[in-house]
Amino acid sequence: DEIEKGGYPHFMLKEIFEQPRALADCLRGRLNVENSSVQLGGLTDIMDRLEGAERLIIAACGTSWHSGLVGEYLFEHLAKLPVEVEYASEFRYREPLISEDDVMLVISQSGETADTLAALRTARERGALALGICNVVGSTIARDTDAGVYTHAGPEIGVASTKAFTTQVAVLTMMAILLGQKRNTIDSAYAARLIRELNGIPEKIEKILDHSESVKNMAELFTYAPNFLYLGRTYNFPVALEGALKLKEISYIHAEGYPAAEMKHGPIALIDKMMPVVVIAATDHTNDKMISNIEEVKARGGRIIAITGEENSEVIDLAEFNCPIPETEDCLSPLLTAIPLQLLSYYIAVNRGCDVDQPRNLAKSVTVE
Ligand code: G6P
Repeated sequence: DEIEKGGYPHFMLKEIFEQPRALADCLRGRLNVENSSVQLGGLTDIMDRLEGAERLIIAACGTSWHSGLVGEYLFEHLAKLPVEVEYASEFRYREPLISEDDVMLVISQSGETADTLAALRTARERGALALGICNVVGSTIARDTDAGVYTHAGPEIGVASTKAFTTQVAVLTMMAILLGQKRNTIDSAYAARLIRELNGIPEKIEKILDHSESVKNMAELFTYAPNFLYLGRTYNFPVALEGALKLKEISYIHAEGYPAAEMKHGPIALIDKMMPVVVIAATDHTNDKMISNIEEVKARGGRIIAITGEENSEVIDLAEFNCPIPETEDCLSPLLTAIPLQLLSYYIAVNRGCDVDQPRNLAKSVTVE
């Protein structure tokens, strides 16, 4: 065990720090910066059908469902393809309207989640093209799909998913760029910029990890907070959900992720000085709206922890605590903003004496229905 942890106290920390390498492995051989192209060998045979799809349905569970939500924003923005994201467990027990014209994309780290597998089979029975994004090579879901893309994150042992999430998002990004190029929905200069920037993401993650000490210090202050609220907009709304899930899973602190604007419709009633609010504010067209959200929280005594671009001085000046991240394209920001949230939950859980790698009641892979 100790050898496998490679000098880290927990698998989770090791896997967080492995992300620059995991992302590089995931992107390797798939991005060509010189000629601005994306190659995903696993999709070659079905590309025509995917290109002509009317709709993409993404089904997954847990953290993989969160990466699916990021996928919704990516495919709609870059490939102009309508997307629905489903909890696999809900999809399978409805009478889902899905047919040969649809494409089902299931996302699963383990490739063994029972509900995700059942959703996949339901879609196939109805004639939909079934694609998968899996980490475990040769897993049941990987074998049951018509085509797919592996994340190549390497084994993930910690129950709380970290590198599996970011590599899933990277695969979704590559798929969306590729599809956008095929469908002519993405401007070529923009595609070139995205491919170049995506290629440099592992290095930017490295920079964030170099500052892990500051997240650790911040975690000291919030170790005994009874609740947390996470707010994000657009691409970072799913990241808010994922940040809250990470904290719940390993520290047993109640946390909720919300689209920032929905705060007014409920969670704002909970805000007082005991409520840390993590604001994930990538510098995009919603920045002004995020700033008003921050002001609303502050006016009620809430404490703001901001995860934002290092040049976003307006947000940085307003927040009590900051975790600046390198600037990037908006649609790539989840690959960076997720990292400090993983670290924050990790350090808080360790401070609380929790079993980080094996949290109570949770399993790495849920193979029961
Ligand atoms: C369990 C794990 C989560 C994971 C989810 C889906 O709940 O604890 O970390 O996100 O299953 O797993 P999958 O292997 O399908 O991605």
